[in-house]
Order: sequence, then C-alpha cells, then structure tokens
Amino acid sequence: MMDFASDNVYGVDEKIMEAMARANVGTASSYAGDDITARVEKQFNELFEREVKVFLLTTGTAANSLALSTMVPSYGAVFCHGFAHICADECGAPEFFTGGAKLFGLDGVAGKISPQMVRESLAGFIRAEHDPKPAAISITQSSELGTVYSLDDVRAFGDLAREKNLKLHMDGARFANALVSLGCSPAEMTWQAGVDALSFGATKNGAMSVEGLVFFDQSLAVDFEHRRMRAGQLLSKSRFMAAQMEAYLTDDLWLNNARYANEMAARLAAGLSATEGIRLGVECQANEVFAIMPKDKHDVLAASDAVFHPWLASGSDTDAVGDDEIMIRLVTSFQTRAEDVDAFVKLAG
Ligand SMILES: Cc1ncc(COP(=O)(O)O)c(C=O)c1O
Repeated sequence: MMDFASDNVYGVDEKIMEAMARANVGTASSYAGDDITARVEKQFNELFEREVKVFLLTTGTAANSLALSTMVPSYGAVFCHGFAHICADECGAPEFFTGGAKLFGLDGVAGKISPQMVRESLAGFIRAEHDPKPAAISITQSSELGTVYSLDDVRAFGDLAREKNLKLHMDGARFANALVSLGCSPAEMTWQAGVDALSFGATKNGAMSVEGLVFFDQSLAVDFEHRRMRAGQLLSKSRFMAAQMEAYLTDDLWLNNARYANEMAARLAAGLSATEGIRLGVECQANEVFAIMPKDKHDVLAASDAVFHPWLASGSDTDAVGDDEIMIRLVTSFQTRAEDVDAFVKLAG
C-alpha cells in the first residue's frame, strides 16, 4: 500500500481501538463528566509539568478555531503563514468562530514565518481603528511543509508576543512529530517558550478523532465550556474521545508512533534525494517529504498504484520548481511500511 496522500489515510492504532472497546462496557457519565476524561486531564498536567486546562475536541479545525476565538476579538488580526491550515484549509472557520477576525497570511520560507516578518507586518498597522487590532500569532509545529521551528524560534515568537501584547497559538496537528524531531520536552516547546494555547493533535498519529485544546494561559479558558458547547463540540459519549487520548498518551504510544513516522519519512527522503533527477523542495524534518521531479517521472509514479498529491509551491517558499518539473507531497504515518517506502523509491529510480 504505497499510500502517501496523508497521515490521516491510515486507520486507528490498535491500542487505541482496544481502549475504546474497554470504554464500551457499562455506563459512564456523559458530557465530559466521565472518569476517563478526568484521568486525561491529569495526564496533560503531568505531560506539561504544570497545571493546564485541556478540552477534548473532534477536529484540528475546531481546536484551532476555538483557540483563536479565546485570543482574538472580532475586530482582531492574527499573523500566520499563508499556507497555515487556519489560513488556507479551514473554510474560514477561524474567522467564523472569532466573529470576523482577519488572518494575515505571511509568505515565509519552508513553511515557516519569522518574528521579523511579523514585526514588518505590524509596522504597517499605523491607521488606528482603520486597521484590525493585532491580537495573536499562530505557528504550526511541525509546519505545513514538514519543517520544524527550533526552540529558539518558538522562544523568539514568545518574546515578540509579550512585547507586543499578542497571544501565541501553536497548531500542533503534528505536535508529536515536531517534538521527537527536536528531542525536547513538551513544556520546553510550548509554555516555557511563551505559547499560550496549543492545538494538540492526536488523530494524524493514531487516534480516531480526538484533539486536545490545551490552555497554558488559563485566563483564556474562562467560559470555554460554553464555547465548546455552542460549537457543537461537547460530545455526549465523551468517554470514547477520552479513551482515545488516554491510550495515546499511555506508555509513550504517541512518541513511538511519531518517531516511527519520522523514520519512514527520513528513509523516503534519503532514497528519493539519492535518485537521479529528484531533489527535495524543503528539508525533511518530521513526517512529510516534498520532492521535486521531472514531469515524466511524476507521470510514471502517478500511473502506478502509489497515492500522493502534487503540491503547489509559492515561489519563495521552497526550492524553485522548473517549468518541466512537479513537486509532490508524501506523508508517512505510524503505519507506513518500510517495504512500501522502498518500493516507491525503486519505482522513482
Ligand atoms: C497543520 C494542520 N492543522 C490542523 C489540521 C486539522 O485538520 P482537521 O480539522 O481535519 O482535523 C490539519 C489536517 O490536515 C493540519 O495539517
């Protein structure tokens, strides 16, 4: 199965399925009042080495949009990458849930923005109430191009956010992949660096449908229960979401899955970049590979049973893609098989 279309084309980790089956016995309080949810809240405190507020939601889009709704007024501005999921892939959900905030998509290299870019953008906000009010920065870790912000990068955003009185959001749909890539602790990559709220992904890395919205700045969590309910995100049978997250965080399943997915991506990246005519559009730092190749090579791969998507480059964002070339995105997961990676590389050779 050479399916590299996304990490969410794969199924659910067996350990998570088993946990849901275990949760499927007897009755439990509904609407997040169950015992498993309470245990998950403790797990998050331990994971982040401090007290946090965590809410389980069904999608990353909900986590991102509702996180921003707590940080940004309806007349506010959010700075992010132009390719950020919140900007390009959520059908205006962040704008909807904030009541109309404006997203400023910046054009950074390799899927990442820099504090300097935000500063330059802020310098244009000189027209008082004629401009939206700068309110938040959102960074994606790992990014939409599979690159990873270093701890220094995240800290620099934290410093800028404090200086300019902005909130810092991290879209961690692939948080685990970034974390194992950096080899640091969850605390270091988030609140210790100045992150105020985190969308903690689990679905792409083995869960069925659960993400955690984690508030480090607890003032943002005030009345969040109402926001969640109003968004239709409070599940009556909440124990099944909680069971997924509990299993995900138990015995390092989340870290092991991410480590494995990253290894498969590194294997794919090494194989492809050693293949004549193929080069990487950006460095592979997590579980995504962006490969630039001649169109005829692409056509051979596209005609095979391999699954992947062509990817549009923004021009400055990746290595330049020539007129006779195509860039494709390949995503690996906790269930990607090494033999399929090798078969794809062979096919590309
Ligand atoms: C960077 C990023 N953020 C968030 C999401 C969350 O998406 P969903 O709403 O499909 O769970 C995704 C999924 O593709 C993503 O790639």
